[in-house]
Amino acid sequence: MNNHKKMKGIILAGGNATRLYPNTSQISKQMLPIYNVPMIFYPLNILIKAGIKDILVIVSPAHSGRFTNLLEPMFRDVGVRILSTVQEVPGGIAEAFILGEGFIGNDNATLILGDNIFEDAETIANAIKNFKSGGHIFVKEVSDPERFGVATVNKSGIVTAIAEKPEKPESNLAVTGAYIYDNKVVETANNIKPSNRGELEITDINNVYLQKGELKMSKINGEWLDAGTPDAYLDACILAKEKKLYEKFDSLILKAVEIGREKFKTQAKKMLK
Ligand code: TTP
Repeated sequence: MNNHKKMKGIILAGGNATRLYPNTSQISKQMLPIYNVPMIFYPLNILIKAGIKDILVIVSPAHSGRFTNLLEPMFRDVGVRILSTVQEVPGGIAEAFILGEGFIGNDNATLILGDNIFEDAETIANAIKNFKSGGHIFVKEVSDPERFGVATVNKSGIVTAIAEKPEKPESNLAVTGAYIYDNKVVETANNIKPSNRGELEITDINNVYLQKGELKMSKINGEWLDAGTPDAYLDACILAKEKKLYEKFDSLILKAVEIGREKFKTQAKKMLK
């Protein structure tokens, strides 16, 4: 019997994006341009680099049409199936595995937050390709860990604790917005309860894996940005331009953009007639 499970990809691109208002009143945060492509192309690049061909984008009700119109046809042309589903209210990051339950089916799942920009796409893509079971998170050494979820890790690279915005952090390893889990994540997400702020917390899922000694981690190199504030957003645009991140995108993405551009030109010519 072949027990090898496929890997599905989920990008969480809902939320209210209040910190970027009014830029986000008519357009979703994850569709804002990071230099020359929409923000969501960054998490998409990681999933596609890892060879994932089935991707679910979770969006807010206000912006759902935009994602469907751009992404589905564009990536269909290069053999990547992109579906979208609506999250009515931002119920927490872990809700992705409840909204995505039917999409995940019996497979494993990688979740990436739609506003996280990783310079080091390779480390995450390689971990996805080599994933076997349990959970896997990605940490970044930072100088201000008290602003993040902070991971404590033993010598074998197993995560032994995660503290949310601790006053006295035990390490300088911030937990970033990319997570790989085996299929048990669906059941786990269905069993956790909302936190005091009313959200299904990804930390609660990580804690379930961690308590079983099944949460691994990789340290990522290069810059990692959560482009959710005006300053971080601008930094992400500058990073993308200066480090030429687009040129390092997976060839399928570059091809999808070129095919899309040709179709766009043809359409523009038709409009002129
Ligand atoms: P946040 O930056 O925490 O939230 P936000 O995007 O709504 O922004 P703000 O705080 O400015 O109002 O979310 C991180 C990412 O996860 C972002 O891409 C949105 C996404 N997200 C959802 O799609 N659904 C959710 O329920 C949550 C909590 C986040």
